Amino acid sequence: GMLAVLAVVVGLVWVQRGGLSGFSTAAVGVSVPGGVSVGGPFTLVNAEGKTVTDADFRGRFMLVYFGYTFCPDVCPTELQTIANALDQLGKDAARVTPLFITIDPARDTAKVIGEYTKLFSDKLVGLTGTPEQIAAVAKAYRVYYAKASSSQSTAYLMDHSSFIYLMAPNGKLSALFGQGTTAKQLADGIRAKIGGT
Ligand code: NI
Repeated sequence: GMLAVLAVVVGLVWVQRGGLSGFSTAAVGVSVPGGVSVGGPFTLVNAEGKTVTDADFRGRFMLVYFGYTFCPDVCPTELQTIANALDQLGKDAARVTPLFITIDPARDTAKVIGEYTKLFSDKLVGLTGTPEQIAAVAKAYRVYYAKASSSQSTAYLMDHSSFIYLMAPNGKLSALFGQGTTAKQLADGIRAKIGGT
């Protein structure tokens, strides 16, 4: 119901703001209240400027992270964790497509996001889109994001929630990993899910 949805959204924002000390360890395998859906259809643009949809990834696991290329700290850390976890997965990594979806489409053009993802892993798929497309996918994944200041300068920061979503081949949420999850914890968590399906 609506209350559960609100609880999750408030919880995600609260966690993102660092409201709970020591959450990082407990955040491995974050659970979502029953009946709350996370994920769903999307239409976005890849680094080659081509339109892609969730259907293009159906039949494979997706490891989804939302952020922006100008992020000074959290995004690079989490993307490096994802890259390291994929390395640790070895051959099993072939069953997982890692996606980096920007919440800052004004600056993260297809070219910018393509160059950025290569810094972490050749496997990482960078996706951008129109502001409306980004708003829609962020809503579906219950991602909080906002410009940190009202400055018209191009040097602005973005506030955003930081979760790594493992989506099953049918498009449903399989696991949710909080900020601070280690590469080993992520690799173990992914292996536990992709091995059992
Ligand atoms: Ni970030």
